[in-house]
Amino acid sequence: MPLEPRTQAHSRTKMTEYVLPQHTNALGGVFGGQIMAWIDLCAAICAQRHAGRMAVTAFIDDMKFEQPVRVGEVVRLDAKLTATFRTSMEIEVVVEGEDAATGRRWPCVDARVTFVAIDEARKPAEVPALALDSEEVRASQAAGEARRAARLSPRK
Ligand SMILES: CC(C)(COP(=O)(O)OP(=O)(O)OC[C@H]1O[C@@H](n2cnc3c(N)ncnc32)[C@H](O)[C@@H]1OP(=O)(O)O)[C@@H](O)C(=O)NCCC(=O)NCCS
Repeated sequence: MPLEPRTQAHSRTKMTEYVLPQHTNALGGVFGGQIMAWIDLCAAICAQRHAGRMAVTAFIDDMKFEQPVRVGEVVRLDAKLTATFRTSMEIEVVVEGEDAATGRRWPCVDARVTFVAIDEARKPAEVPALALDSEEVRASQAAGEARRAARLSPRK
């Protein structure tokens, strides 16, 4: 029986992290690898909420770090499912820095991650479709399909 489509809202995942000295480099800014780990975690929760089962990271698109986040500041992550395929899901994670005292926010990085749902035997498992319930979500699914074609083209 086909799985019931699920809305973007069903799996939307937000995380907030406080930057401590152990997260930072010699300049007092968060390590890129630490931000990537938080992105992976936030996207993993989003993927598992949508799929209703375990999911693993298959691919991370290029990332550009725009502005640093420093010790004593806040990292905000917002993961949103942008497209679904048969067993894989594309998730966008928008990361911002925040000064908690003033409320000022700035862009840090915008990442796209592909997760694959897996079954008990660790084999790829079908995921529910993204519910195409608005023009915005339909456009998101179409754009995700185009990005997926570009991503997978070297494998052909
Ligand atoms: C991801 C993984 C499950 C795919 O397994 P596989 O045997 O290659 O499976 P398939 O070729 O049947 O592909 C399964 C899905 O993965 C997608 N996929 C595989 N490689 C991909 C890549 N580089 N980029 C995007 N999607 C990819 C396929 O397009 C397919 O999606 P679809 O069913 O929606 O069309 C497997 O490669 C794996 O386990 N990788 C390690 C994952 C991991 O350890 N991650 C880090 C820790 S969580």
